[in-house]
Amino acid sequence: MRALTWQGMRDVRVEEVPDPTLEQPTDAVVRVTSTAICGSDLHLYNVLAPYLTPGDILGHEFMGIVEEVGDGAAGHLSPGDRVVVPFNISCGHCWMCERGLFAQCETTQSRDQGKGASLFGYTSMYGAVPGGQAELVRVPHADFGPIKIDSDAPDERFLYLSDILPTAWQGVEYADVPDGGTLLILGLGPVGLMAVRSARHRGVAQIIGVDREPARLAEGARLGATTLDLSSTKDIAAAVHDLTDGRGADGVLDAVGMEAHGNPVSEKVIGLASRLPGPVARAAIEHAGIDRLAALHLAVECARRGGTVSVSGVYGGAASPMPLMDIFDKALTFRHGQCNVRAWTDELLRLALDDNDPLELQDLATHHGSLEDAPQMYDLFAEKGDDCIKVVLKP
Ligand SMILES: NC(=O)c1ccc[n+]([C@@H]2O[C@H](COP(=O)([O-])OP(=O)(O)OC[C@H]3O[C@@H](n4cnc5c(N)ncnc54)[C@H](O)[C@@H]3O)[C@@H](O)[C@H]2O)c1
Ligand SMILES: [Zn+2]
Ligand SMILES: [Zn+2]
Repeated sequence: MRALTWQGMRDVRVEEVPDPTLEQPTDAVVRVTSTAICGSDLHLYNVLAPYLTPGDILGHEFMGIVEEVGDGAAGHLSPGDRVVVPFNISCGHCWMCERGLFAQCETTQSRDQGKGASLFGYTSMYGAVPGGQAELVRVPHADFGPIKIDSDAPDERFLYLSDILPTAWQGVEYADVPDGGTLLILGLGPVGLMAVRSARHRGVAQIIGVDREPARLAEGARLGATTLDLSSTKDIAAAVHDLTDGRGADGVLDAVGMEAHGNPVSEKVIGLASRLPGPVARAAIEHAGIDRLAALHLAVECARRGGTVSVSGVYGGAASPMPLMDIFDKALTFRHGQCNVRAWTDELLRLALDDNDPLELQDLATHHGSLEDAPQMYDLFAEKGDDCIKVVLKP
């Protein structure tokens, strides 16, 4: 089959690789009909090289048609079923899964790396599981993960259930905005724009969105957010305070993560670390403050006293300096983490199945292509060229 493989920093290629097969009774093989590129893939493209091996198959947002099912998953799935697959691989029955913490599944935890549940297409840290930017993908724990779609509506109504829709939904939930309150969303990429949709649907009274890309700001405003342009607003925190009776936002969602603009020094350090030999680079990333924390610091600054900071953006360093004095003095609550996808998908599937498309899921993708277009699309999405917001590929 053809699959998108990682070859080195900013180097991905479509290659011919062996077809996946059933390896465990609870596996299924899915023929991919749509797969998306995520901001998390950009960390692999730009930064996390030390955790990848040339030839790794990328991709964790995908859906398709079940081709083969192992005996252990036959009660849940049959060949021919249309499914969307959560990016975290969870068993559904361990101690963590029973508590809805699917991103911490104890059956698939990457124990040798000290990390949570395995993820599709996401490095040796998370199980080195081949991803779904491919014609076919092996889906472990198919007796629990895949969500069956009983509808003929277009793929894009369901594709985002794999990641960015539940991620944004969880991010809004964790931001804990009280009735009549304000949610500030930092970053209006696919996750931030899904968060605007989710917050609007959930009746959040005031939504403020921050980015510096004109197309993304325009889309945020169209969806109902008051937008602030990072590149032309001198003091974002002051502008947020002006919009919130001088208090700051009740909840702040960081939908940016470790590649934030505004940290030129750590940008250089992280770039250098990524070019060191594997083990040296891994040690540098794990023991130094290499994240670009502009967005997280801005979140602390913009939150009101007693407010909540909800972090969906991915951070990778283990010793990042944070404004602890402000976090303490302002009595902030922080919630983080990989999305527990299956905790939200029953509720969200109902919204995706609604033909009125209340979350405007069909309007998110700006770029479409085949798998062969993937290298060019990675570049475009990374550079935010041609007003690119979200890429969907049809293998
Ligand atoms: N927790 C999870 O389970 C989960 C799931 C999916 C994605 N993510 C993470 O969410 C983040 C966003 O993903 P995406 O697909 O929307 O990515 P993206 O890179 O397309 O979007 C990030 C946006 O943030 C903007 N930005 C950069 N610096 C900023 C700053 N200082 N202040 C405000 N905005 C700034 C960029 O212009 C961009 O539009 C990434 O870190 C991604 O890895 C996490
Ligand atoms: Zn993703
Ligand atoms: Zn589990």
